[in-house]
Amino acid sequence: MHCYLDAADGPMMDYRSAVSLVDEIVDVIGVQGIQLTGGEPLGYPYLVELIEHLEQKYTQVSIATSGYASDAVATRVLSALSGPMDLVQVSIDGFEGYHNKIRGRKDAFTRALAFIDLAICKGVKVSVATTLISQTEAEIASLCESMRARRVSVLRFGVLLQEGRATSSHLGTSWSEGSMRPLIERLKSKFDTDDFRIEALETHDLSTIDHACGTGIKMMVIDPDFNARPCPMLMCKLGNVIDEPLMAVVRKTNTLMKGVSTPCEATCGQCSNFSACRGYIAAALTNRDSTSNCLWFEMQEKRIQRLLDVVA
Ligand SMILES: C[S@@+](CC[C@H](N)C(=O)[O-])C[C@H]1O[C@@H](n2cnc3c(N)ncnc32)[C@H](O)[C@@H]1O
Ligand code: SF4
Repeated sequence: MHCYLDAADGPMMDYRSAVSLVDEIVDVIGVQGIQLTGGEPLGYPYLVELIEHLEQKYTQVSIATSGYASDAVATRVLSALSGPMDLVQVSIDGFEGYHNKIRGRKDAFTRALAFIDLAICKGVKVSVATTLISQTEAEIASLCESMRARRVSVLRFGVLLQEGRATSSHLGTSWSEGSMRPLIERLKSKFDTDDFRIEALETHDLSTIDHACGTGIKMMVIDPDFNARPCPMLMCKLGNVIDEPLMAVVRKTNTLMKGVSTPCEATCGQCSNFSACRGYIAAALTNRDSTSNCLWFEMQEKRIQRLLDVVA
């Protein structure tokens, strides 16, 4: 219901090309860790083979998933995750009724919990990701308690981004970036232990959020058709990594993103969209039309135009 990608049954990466791509990412670019996500990575028929290939290269693997899989698939995937730093990030949006409603499946919550329990049983570190939508603080606190009791290592929160299906489902949210910060502090003081941490999702990292959200610099998304995009929410194609070397696409992206800064207090502090745009180039490009005077866009226009030209 809330997916910013509006992902449904879409194309899948061809396995041979996926292997060549990860070889290029690891061997040529020197990346040490790869996150496999989607759509839903557990639905990819070659996921185990891809994980095993990455493990042979001593690459850290993380999987961002709904945890919605049969026991057989979950067992195969989790058994393949043999690296000491490997991680599964499972999305849990709330307790059973809420989670199932957001996910649109009656057994989504049960399966996600089964996946988490199996991962922990197999010694794979588990992080849980929760999108703050309209859950109450009491529900969120109970969720923290419940995930800690399950021996989850980290529970991360992010706010709902009004993109993709989240917009067409008209999902309202009671949380903003501004109310999430103090919430996280309250939860941390109550629930953090040596073995369990409450955090903001990495995309909300306050130490970097006012400098660069990471679009195209800290991250790049390769979609199932091997088009490189600067972030999960920007649909612009920077190049196709089958048609040209990945390194060429990385260089081109670095040039495009040079000097582009993210919406911050100095430019946007007076704007009513600030909490939605703060730190997000993609959100700012969506929200700028809802204000008569987007100062951020005015200041970034020349630089960001190069990126927008690629979109066109
Ligand atoms: C796009 S999903 C892909 C992985 C997997 N299919 C899943 O459901 O977790 C990755 C994460 O993004 C979160 N997410 C999806 N749409 C969002 C939105 N509109 N705003 C904020 N987070 C969102 C999901 O809850 C999930 O934790
Ligand atoms: S709409 Fe423009 S000025 Fe307002 S917060 Fe977003 S980027 Fe800043």
